[in-house]
Amino acid sequence: MCGIFAYYGEKKNAPHLVIEGLKNLEYRGYDSWGIAYKNGGDIIVHKEVGKIGDINAKDLALGESSVAMAHSRWATHGGVTKANAHPHFSEHNEIVLIHNGIFENYQEIKKDLIKKGHKFLSQTDTEVLAHLIEQHSRKHSFEESVKMAVKEIEGRYAIVVMKKDEDKVIAARKGSPLIIGVGKEHGEYFIASDIPAFLAQTNKVIYLDDNQICVIGNKKINFYDNATNEEIKKRIIEIDWDVESAEKGEFAHFMIKEIMEQKDTLNRAINQDPKNIELVAKAIEEAESTYFVGCGTAGKVAMVGAYLFAKISKKQIHFVFGSEFQNYKDFINKKTLLVCISQSGETADTLEAMEIAKEKGAKIASIVNVENSSIARHSDIVIPIKAGPEKAVASTKATTSQLAILTLLAYACDGGVEIGKQLLIRTASQINDMLNPRYADHIKKIATKIKDIESMYIIGRGANFPIALEAAIKLQEVSYIHAEGFAGGELKHGPIALISKNTPVIALVANDDCRKEILSNAQEVKARGGYIIGVAPTNEEVFDFWIRVPDVGATSPIVNIIPVQILAYQLAVLRQNDPDKPRNLAKSVTVK
Ligand code: M6R
Repeated sequence: MCGIFAYYGEKKNAPHLVIEGLKNLEYRGYDSWGIAYKNGGDIIVHKEVGKIGDINAKDLALGESSVAMAHSRWATHGGVTKANAHPHFSEHNEIVLIHNGIFENYQEIKKDLIKKGHKFLSQTDTEVLAHLIEQHSRKHSFEESVKMAVKEIEGRYAIVVMKKDEDKVIAARKGSPLIIGVGKEHGEYFIASDIPAFLAQTNKVIYLDDNQICVIGNKKINFYDNATNEEIKKRIIEIDWDVESAEKGEFAHFMIKEIMEQKDTLNRAINQDPKNIELVAKAIEEAESTYFVGCGTAGKVAMVGAYLFAKISKKQIHFVFGSEFQNYKDFINKKTLLVCISQSGETADTLEAMEIAKEKGAKIASIVNVENSSIARHSDIVIPIKAGPEKAVASTKATTSQLAILTLLAYACDGGVEIGKQLLIRTASQINDMLNPRYADHIKKIATKIKDIESMYIIGRGANFPIALEAAIKLQEVSYIHAEGFAGGELKHGPIALISKNTPVIALVANDDCRKEILSNAQEVKARGGYIIGVAPTNEEVFDFWIRVPDVGATSPIVNIIPVQILAYQLAVLRQNDPDKPRNLAKSVTVK
């Protein structure tokens, strides 16, 4: 949610540089954008409603500057307007600030500031912090004022602040990501919500942790613990991401590029250091109870994991959405294991579940894509899924890699990790054969047929029930078609009333012990006029349209979701939606 990118250094084109870099973070929010830069003794601010990706910095007549900050917004407090876009000025335009997250107690602080004579121009929580810092700066230094102000605010945030008459940029974080890029020139620094903003400039990074403040000025960078005010030392890490993997290349959209990459990403997930798998499998064996936790797609993956463990290792695993985890806190103790599943490693609801479990003394494992993310850094054991940057808002390649890891873990807990690995290697090779242009063209036929429908449904059983839920998310988020997933057996208890002539229903079929029953459920739908799109290893009489998937046994959730990802993508394109930046969404959900 919200992208932050700031530059401090010697380059004179900082305003252009931050705009171009921020385009790489647009997946984090794209309803409006803004920039602030130092120019002579002034701070110039330029804001607009719309996507920064559509902007050519050269058309903006920006002045020269070697200090600048830019922001792309995903609205929380206040509508999508120019006034609510960041950066925000303080009362006398002395302080300028960009922010990602939510200040929960901003209303009380605002009331107090209004009594002191402050006037606000936006409905945002962010503007309140700019004013609060300025209020403190009447008696204290800029640095002290920021430190005092962030102590007063509650919630999760990442901020970058500048002051008119100071050669300093200050950044602080609590719960929302902020990464420092160490530039090639002496005293050059980048501050961003995510690495792709500055990856073309440097691969040397410093991760700011919660309750830490970073002060850049006089070509130096210093870090402080905001609770103790003590200076702290931070480590520079060299990351091995390459610029190409974060770009679209020959593909029209990131979403289709990432779907196609599943040929390789699955292999990377499977062929990783076996120690990671062994350690988490051992932790699951030793724990009295294990909870798989995630949100959205990662939550559905967690649910598939519970089915895989029930089937393969005959072990009961609890699955909970991150946002619901607090309801289970009374069952969490030192013998509990929490396994957090997250692509970004920054999802606020999952982080909160992790904090609750940590407080109760539980052990934390995580399955993440972004290594060194907050979830990864605060886990006792980490399994990286190694899918590479996932930039489309709709998760695709991270999903199948997470599913592969959970399959390996389930086999490892049954003492048969090698059996699981061989099955997954076979599955990856069959996916390689499946993902070709002819396959995509076949799916396009059905996309063209159903592109104008209002509602569609997806049914599955066993481990393919959560995949039906995930399929619905995929269709909803990029095609904007009303889509819902159901357990096949649940239809007759209510949802079947939604079926009328030609209602499209996708049946996710695997060659397993649910096969006959899910086909019967498809028959029940067909008898009410439904149009059955079968995703299955073999063509069945009940199907009106068949999408073939390989016959892979326990890895059927992995192969069954891929054609739905392609269908969702094609529907989005046919309906002229942007599949990479669907409306109302953001890639990394760092607010609760
Ligand atoms: O980064 P995470 O995996 O923790 O994100 C969780 C969800 O926000 C995410 O899976 C979301 O549902 C995706 N947009 C779905 O495609």
